[in-house]
Amino acid sequence: MKKNSHNNNFKNGSRKNIKQIIRSAVKKHASPLLLISRCTIKKQYDTFRRYLPEVTPYYAVKANTYPDIIKYLYKLGAFFDVASANEMALTLSLGIPPKKLIFAHTIKSEKDLIQASNSGVHLMTYDNEMELYKIKKHCPEARLLLRIRVSNLGSNIELSLKFGADVDQAIPLLQKARHFGLNPVGISFHVGSQCTHSDSYLQALEISSTIFQESKNYGFDLKILDLGGGFPIKHRDSDNFEDFKTMARKIRLEIKNLFDKKTQVIAEPGRFMVGPAGTLITQVVGRTYRNNKNYYYLNDGIYGDFSGIVFDNCKYEFKTLRNGRKHLSTLAGPTCDSFDTISVSEDLPELDLGSVVYVRNIGAYSCASAVTSFNGFTPAKIIMVS
Ligand SMILES: Cc1ncc(COP(=O)(O)O)c(C=O)c1O
Repeated sequence: MKKNSHNNNFKNGSRKNIKQIIRSAVKKHASPLLLISRCTIKKQYDTFRRYLPEVTPYYAVKANTYPDIIKYLYKLGAFFDVASANEMALTLSLGIPPKKLIFAHTIKSEKDLIQASNSGVHLMTYDNEMELYKIKKHCPEARLLLRIRVSNLGSNIELSLKFGADVDQAIPLLQKARHFGLNPVGISFHVGSQCTHSDSYLQALEISSTIFQESKNYGFDLKILDLGGGFPIKHRDSDNFEDFKTMARKIRLEIKNLFDKKTQVIAEPGRFMVGPAGTLITQVVGRTYRNNKNYYYLNDGIYGDFSGIVFDNCKYEFKTLRNGRKHLSTLAGPTCDSFDTISVSEDLPELDLGSVVYVRNIGAYSCASAVTSFNGFTPAKIIMVS
């Protein structure tokens, strides 16, 4: 067996099977542990390709930068979205050619632009004039996608608060790029992360198509449309919203109706590719009774792999390996900070020292945004499983 791999199979994810996998993983590796299922990544990737076959997925590395995930997605055929020179260097160091990368951050430091130019990563986004000055100076060979601001209604994370040019600035910003001798080749948008309303995509497609059409009057021949990320996953069993397949059917139809066949369509899915593949396993390291509730201290918390509660507005489903009567309970992380409280109202069976608390669908924006060691507590060890 390879180092950091696990022979247990996540494919038949029955509750009994998962419990066995968790027990043996804890026995073998201790906790906290983040199990990443290769076969779930493949399933997500294949689903994306099947339902949006004309769309090339650039995996948003920010969702989970674990090198084996990037390598595996490369093997499956993915392209990659990087947000910084460090993500770029990591991805390139794994043998992925620069042509398979997009530098999809509209605000890039001059140092990062120099690195992009030197590394041959020339496809990138912008949404303002200042960025064009920097790009002209440090990466004049860039192929540019203008990111526009679109509705983020119904998305868990609103990205339009911070990024995207106003739509009425689209033509002037394309003209500015051309005036600088640069090469604008398309339009990009992001409907916000964990977008549960397909209307946001459909509206964004309509706006983009208007810009594609209008830009022709100004002598542009835009070739690339970038749908960004946002594709949603179920974090909890009870999550109930339009699923990816239904959404994708509508998006695909709208692209067919609005865009020329020759338009190259790409997307930057992060959460969708890796979120469902992650299972976090923690254990109880202390317990007490406070505020009329059972109070359990776990060996991972808000500063670690539960960072998505803060940074990703994420609500997880906490499960245990125990049956029995449930009581209102609080879950807290291991640090000295009271902010490190994971949930104050979970119905859980009675737990002891060493009892397992686990969370599924936590592969994205978990370890990626965890701090490496606060109070000396490190985030979960990551193990790839089949
Ligand atoms: C520019 C860009 N692309 C892609 C993504 C990935 O989005 P998601 O994980 O919702 O698919 C993000 C997330 O913040 C982003 O900022």
